[in-house]
Amino acid sequence: MVSIVLIGTGNIATHLYDTFLLHKAINVVQVVGRSEKSLSFFAKKTETCLIDETIKTAAIYVIAVSDDAINSVSKKLQNKKGLVVHTSGSVPLSSLTYNKNSGVFYPLQTFTKGKKIDFKNIPICIEALQKDDFLLIEKLAKIISNKVYTISTEERQHLHVAAVFVNNFTNYMFTLGNEICEEHKVPFDILKPLINETVEKIADLTPKNAQTGPAKRNDFDTMQRHIEQLRSKEKKKIYKLLSESILEKYGKEL
Ligand SMILES: NC(=O)c1ccc[n+]([C@@H]2O[C@H](COP(=O)([O-])OP(=O)(O)OC[C@H]3O[C@@H](n4cnc5c(N)ncnc54)[C@H](OP(=O)(O)O)[C@@H]3O)[C@@H](O)[C@H]2O)c1
Repeated sequence: MVSIVLIGTGNIATHLYDTFLLHKAINVVQVVGRSEKSLSFFAKKTETCLIDETIKTAAIYVIAVSDDAINSVSKKLQNKKGLVVHTSGSVPLSSLTYNKNSGVFYPLQTFTKGKKIDFKNIPICIEALQKDDFLLIEKLAKIISNKVYTISTEERQHLHVAAVFVNNFTNYMFTLGNEICEEHKVPFDILKPLINETVEKIADLTPKNAQTGPAKRNDFDTMQRHIEQLRSKEKKKIYKLLSESILEKYGKEL
């Protein structure tokens, strides 16, 4: 049985908590947060405490708070004997300066409260300096996921930048596409099979080989028409920037 104190009450903390509760081999002994209100979701089934109150003893302290708060929260655990891990994609392991036993437990997925997700297929990137710490993190990760990867801080930081491109920027493109549909009163739903196919295609093809569109085909008249059609300066700028980048990659200039 792995005992856990979970610190944080946001997206990741909520998803990890729900998943930990599904497994008999994991015991969440306490959830720690900044307000009674944010802790109310957890208080139904688990003991909770405010960040400046007495934090219980556990084998692993999972810090699932905003990146900028990880170091200050880890300081509150400096006298604890257990292993302290954070869940961030970009914060170095070395930022856990106050803890003798430290590590990283980074689930590489996009989490939003209320959107259920099956952890079994979520890659968990783990890291620790000491062998025993690594084995304990690995034990926890393997209970909840079938995809556990040993990833260094440097590798994790590169993966995180790549994740921003493939997820955050892609989702922003969906937002812009949705806005264009709303402006012109055409249903965004018509685009959903295209969105799904864009993602499904890269199961078999490299993203580079899967590229289509006017910039890939050198259809300059079409690109010019699209730029004129767009109402906002911002969308025109983004359209040009991305088209130029695609033209450059495939060997032509706009
Ligand atoms: N969301 C994702 O898709 C995702 C994926 C992988 C990894 N992560 C990582 O997981 C961590 C948490 O992300 P999240 O998405 O769960 O963030 P979130 O939903 O914004 O929640 C942030 C949590 O941090 C707490 N917090 C902020 N400043 C604090 C401080 N100074 N002291 C104590 N607690 C503080 C917040 O408390 P209040 O509620 O009181 O403000 C809240 O519980 C981050 O390191 C993030 O990089 C996130």
